[in-house]
Amino acid sequence: MINEYVCSAEKLFFTYGGKKNKPTLEEVSIHIKSGEILGLVGESGSGKSTLAKVLTGLLKADSGKVECNKPAMIFQDSYSALNPAKTIGWLLHEVQRLQGVKDKEVREEEIHKIMDAVELDDTYLMHYPSELSGGQRQRVMIAMALLAKPEVLIADEPVSALDVTVQKQIVSLLKRLSHKRNLAVLFISHDLRTVYELCDRVMVMKNGKVVEENTKDELYFNPKQDYTKALLSSAGIDWE
Ligand SMILES: Nc1ncnc2c1ncn2[C@@H]1O[C@H](COP(=O)(O)OP(=O)(O)OP(=O)(O)O)[C@@H](O)[C@H]1O
Ligand SMILES: [Mg+2]
Repeated sequence: MINEYVCSAEKLFFTYGGKKNKPTLEEVSIHIKSGEILGLVGESGSGKSTLAKVLTGLLKADSGKVECNKPAMIFQDSYSALNPAKTIGWLLHEVQRLQGVKDKEVREEEIHKIMDAVELDDTYLMHYPSELSGGQRQRVMIAMALLAKPEVLIADEPVSALDVTVQKQIVSLLKRLSHKRNLAVLFISHDLRTVYELCDRVMVMKNGKVVEENTKDELYFNPKQDYTKALLSSAGIDWE
């Protein structure tokens, strides 16, 4: 296969509730290489989360082609995704059990490595989700996602619920993980400064369509579309 992308989609259309409605995604194409971090921005309701769900296979496109190698997803509300009655250790074992890793020692070794990768001390394995901070819980979510050995990590507003200092820590963790593991990342966010800090390229969506896509420096310093300019200036990023 001559395809340098680990996640790509061509001309996606997607409509909620049957084709009589207006499509939420219209002719959306997206391409991410391994090790690349692509930012996805655009106003609320523009279709970012819908695109994420189509890429991970949670939603099926009306038409178009999706090829996304082993995607894993993390999102804003990590707490609600963790079973409160189980310890972090149990939850991480369970992820691997579901993947068919039967040997307990093999699982333990993997868990130790993954805790190290997300920079959490092994003592947290004995704790329940409610005993962790938001940032620590997001690290656990990242660990759970990585245990599936994804090639693509789709992160939908993964730091929006965290305070600024913790946001920075999680963002730099994502950057290190992407570099070390050659992991492709789709980073969805409203925070244009964080996107600039983290991403290599940035894609802008509006009303279900991609309006502009470029390297981050081109997009931020030389935006072509009025919508992109407006988005940047509403974030206080104005070069003129
Ligand atoms: N389950 C659903 N059923 C019907 N319509 C939906 C559903 N989920 C989302 N929509 C609609 O699809 C459009 C795109 O929603 P989506 O959640 O993808 O936007 P978004 O860009 O992620 O927004 P935000 O930045 O607020 O997270 C919106 O108009 C939304 O109301
Ligand atoms: Mg969303």
